Amino acid sequence: MPNVNELFSLKGRTAIVTGGGQGLGKSMAIGLAQAGADIVIAARRIETALATQKEIEALGVKCTVIKGDMRVEEDVIRMVNQVVEEYGKIDILFNNAGTWRGDDAEKVTTEDWKEVIDVNLTGPFIVSREVGKVMLKQGKGSIINVASMSGMIVNTPQNQCAYNASKGGLIMLTKSMAAEWADRGVRVNALCPGYMRTEMSEERYQRKDPAIERWFSMTPMGRSGVPDELMGIAVYLASDASSFVTGSTYLVDGGYTAW
Ligand SMILES: NC(=O)c1ccc[n+]([C@@H]2O[C@H](COP(=O)([O-])OP(=O)(O)OC[C@H]3O[C@@H](n4cnc5c(N)ncnc54)[C@H](O)[C@@H]3O)[C@@H](O)[C@H]2O)c1
Repeated sequence: MPNVNELFSLKGRTAIVTGGGQGLGKSMAIGLAQAGADIVIAARRIETALATQKEIEALGVKCTVIKGDMRVEEDVIRMVNQVVEEYGKIDILFNNAGTWRGDDAEKVTTEDWKEVIDVNLTGPFIVSREVGKVMLKQGKGSIINVASMSGMIVNTPQNQCAYNASKGGLIMLTKSMAAEWADRGVRVNALCPGYMRTEMSEERYQRKDPAIERWFSMTPMGRSGVPDELMGIAVYLASDASSFVTGSTYLVDGGYTAW
């Protein structure tokens, strides 16, 4: 019989977390490192990632920071080659890098639409495709796409059609890749947070945006989540504890979608 602590252990595994220098990605990277994984942070902004690298190394695992824009094919291929050269394998990928822009649908510029779709959907596709090639050769790997409850419901009061469409697309990309790769050992799942307080939303909290009260009133738990509340599920989805799980979407939303 397997031992549950061994099932959750990530000792000796190599995990890439895109945009892992701050916010949700940082908490998930630290959770993976606490479970024993070596971490690669792929980041556009190197300074924040270098500070996170120090915190992760203090946990006794290796941590590498690679600068790159995850929408840019050449950056992604260079990043994947560097990880394979340095670590010999890639066991886990978190497509966490993301962006948010909102406006009423009739006012959204084509430029803003493309920016959101590029970062939130095309980027994760390119990274998954390139990392997927390595994992398929290995015959094993776990990819976790950080989507959002916005891929399932329409948020209110703020309008954000591009963001919602990007995350809905990411959930469908998750299922598509999961179905294609399931019999070759590569699992693909989506993690869908609800409202979490991070740098992405901090400006709204600072100016006491009335939208926040509305969000809380629509959330059974009556509050936003904090990034560390994703550590447990990140380790679960990355590890052998979830060995029969693929093509699934996991909500962590304080009950928002229950109402
Ligand atoms: N904060 C929330 O309430 C919330 C809710 C649901 C889903 N999410 C999703 O979780 C993920 C992380 O969000 P967060 O709140 O921590 O955001 P954040 O803005 O704090 O962090 C995102 C990170 O991604 C990086 N990044 C953005 N574009 C990149 C690119 N092209 N290449 C490389 N790195 C890039 C940023 O530099 C940043 O470090 C996002 O995908 C977001 O859509 C967030």
